[in-house]
Amino acid sequence: MAAKRKRKVTDADLPYVGPETAAGQWLRRYWLAIWRAEDLKDIPQGIKVLGEELVLFRDDKGRLGLLGMHCAHRGSSLEYGDIGNGGIRCPYHGWLYDVRGNCLEQPAEPRGSAFHKKVKQPSYPVQELGGLIFAYMGPDRDRPPPLPRYAPLVREDGVRYLEPIRFYDYNWFNFFENAPDVAHLSILHRYSGYGKQTWGNNFFDYRDIPPFEAVATEYGMKAVSRKPGPTPDSEYVHELGALLPSIIHLGSVNDQGREEPDNEHTIFLTPNDDERFMLFSVDYYTGSDAKFFEKIMARRYGPSQKEEPKPYDRRKYKSFRGSILMEDIMTQSTQGLLGRREERLGSSDRGVIMLRRMVREEIETVLKKGRPKGVLTKDQATRIIDFSCFTGIQRKQLHSTVASASGHVSGKLRS
Ligand code: FES
Ligand SMILES: [Fe+2]
Repeated sequence: MAAKRKRKVTDADLPYVGPETAAGQWLRRYWLAIWRAEDLKDIPQGIKVLGEELVLFRDDKGRLGLLGMHCAHRGSSLEYGDIGNGGIRCPYHGWLYDVRGNCLEQPAEPRGSAFHKKVKQPSYPVQELGGLIFAYMGPDRDRPPPLPRYAPLVREDGVRYLEPIRFYDYNWFNFFENAPDVAHLSILHRYSGYGKQTWGNNFFDYRDIPPFEAVATEYGMKAVSRKPGPTPDSEYVHELGALLPSIIHLGSVNDQGREEPDNEHTIFLTPNDDERFMLFSVDYYTGSDAKFFEKIMARRYGPSQKEEPKPYDRRKYKSFRGSILMEDIMTQSTQGLLGRREERLGSSDRGVIMLRRMVREEIETVLKKGRPKGVLTKDQATRIIDFSCFTGIQRKQLHSTVASASGHVSGKLRS
């Protein structure tokens, strides 16, 4: 009998994250951010990650544990377990598990019984870095790959700010692939003054959409947009990175047109399941403004100049215009699932097309038992993962050839 031919990975595979799915197996090769360390207190925290119900806790020695949520005995939730005695104890019949899922005690079993040694609660390795807790849910849990030392989580030359976790109820890939879709910045966000950087409104102008190019990078890709700068030999540059499996880097922002960028904004995205995801937003600031975070959060989440909703407006998203956040949520959550929705891709979708192709290729790599882009070898454990996305003013690169957002290829950049 002929060997069964493996099915090719398509875009329709990308939204699904469960353990049996192709994208789910790929995502499980990476360390994923699952919680903010400061939010994990002295009670267990239930979390759904990649479709699996889990419980996160710190035992009485301070060790982190991530176990299957439902007790191996008869399924009660360990989210209500008691922490102590070197682990977490199920409230129902008192089975005690350590952070590795070993069952240490079964109080109702006969004294001297060895039954507990045969019981193992599912467990995953967990590590803390820069205030975030990461989990590895892949196949080799005894020898996971190194947790990458992402620059904004390990740098020590400035101040780190971790926003509270944000939760959304639509498919994760819609959010992720929105990152290299930089054409939308000039259109969807035109009422909200994208970024409101000193030059941002001008740069993302829908009457003069900046040309951009999609570029593959060591850990993923980035969309690089350019416009003529304030002096003939300079240009405004905006780089937006998408790193595998699900990290978005919004650039190191040079807000005031100074030489050195002084804030980098990174978003770690983790799917809860096929319909929900969570975001961990990290800012790393090296400037001298003591009120910087206050100002930037007000800009991101503060009151916007939204229109008053019309009394007869029965749509779910009423006055969404004026808030970048609401504009993104409205557009992404109404798209439906990639692979199910009808699409007509144009030239301005080239960033999205590159990201989808890259993810498909890396899924194929995993299905062939290879190491996908962004998963480090043991030898690479100490390297700093610098996302090298820049936003600000740079000396003009005259040789650069970029395609404009409307699809025309412009040769040399205008001076
Ligand atoms: S269900 Fe957990 S100990 Fe019985
Ligand atoms: Fe957006």
